[in-house]
Amino acid sequence: MFPITRSRRLRSSKNIRSMVKETTLSVNDFIYPLFVCEGKSIRHEVPSMPGIYNLSVDEVIKEAKEAENLGIKSVILFGIPDHKDEEGSGAYGSEGIVQKAIKAIKDYTDLYVITDVCMCEYTSHGHCGHIINGDVDNDSTLNMLAREALSHAEAGADMVAPSDMMDGRVAAIRTMLDDNGFENIPIMSYAVKYASGYYGPFRDAADSTPAFGSRKTYQMDPANRREALKEAFQDIEEGADIIMVKPALAYLDIIRDVKDSCVVPVASYNVSGEYAMIKAAAKNGWIDEEKVVMETLLSMKRAGSDLIITYFAKDAAKKLNK
Ligand code: PBG
Ligand code: ZN
Repeated sequence: MFPITRSRRLRSSKNIRSMVKETTLSVNDFIYPLFVCEGKSIRHEVPSMPGIYNLSVDEVIKEAKEAENLGIKSVILFGIPDHKDEEGSGAYGSEGIVQKAIKAIKDYTDLYVITDVCMCEYTSHGHCGHIINGDVDNDSTLNMLAREALSHAEAGADMVAPSDMMDGRVAAIRTMLDDNGFENIPIMSYAVKYASGYYGPFRDAADSTPAFGSRKTYQMDPANRREALKEAFQDIEEGADIIMVKPALAYLDIIRDVKDSCVVPVASYNVSGEYAMIKAAAKNGWIDEEKVVMETLLSMKRAGSDLIITYFAKDAAKKLNK
């Protein structure tokens, strides 16, 4: 209908662009991941994730406070224990690394503390559960995950987030929490989690690369779209309060599908490899880091994410606060 239709009329100034903006990012959208390790005064940068550190509990308090001062509402904790064993026994104890970090962060900040519930950070073989005949056994892993989630709730976690991809784990965790008086602790399920190459830097940080095989027998095939809804529906039926899609950037179509089909908040995980790619290109001077970060996070929001777990949370908060 040219020249009657001129889309540029609504792009002509900053004010009118702000007025017709369809999607906005807010600091309320972000969940900031923290890697906690044993020791004191430890702040060890993850080589493939510049600006992200393995932090001892005293340092994690400082990092959490800094995030809180920027307006960030929530953190998600990953534990890096000193000792790993076959059965991942470091995942449960009240003196486990994540349990200590939960207590410290709740004592020193008002942040909403979420915990990642999985076995791979605690097992010597690096898989997400109990191994039988060279593969992760589904049903015997469920109780491990439920115990781990309960220990996080007992330490004061506000929400638990299982990332293992065992079938039935949301129900197992829900039952265990309810039976122990934690019926008001929500579950954010990593319901739609793909077997992705984008987790590489995280596995460096958590030293959780599987010693044999891969995670393809439990994480989803990146080729599958309809299966995402099956996973999301099943977890909602089992009691999941929030559904997560992971990774985010290569799966924006999946975020949109889940958003359109499920009546629960949708979270997406802007994973370690997505972070590393932007950091590496920016370091080379090939992209403008701030612009690309904000555009990337905006794409996740536009695709349907209500919440975004991102290592860029502090950077994005600083930009939004300007
Ligand atoms: C543990 C877990 C992983 C991530 C979050 N929880 C690693 C994996 O499944 O191998 C990845 C996060 C990231 O890459 O930033 N299951
Ligand atoms: Zn795992």
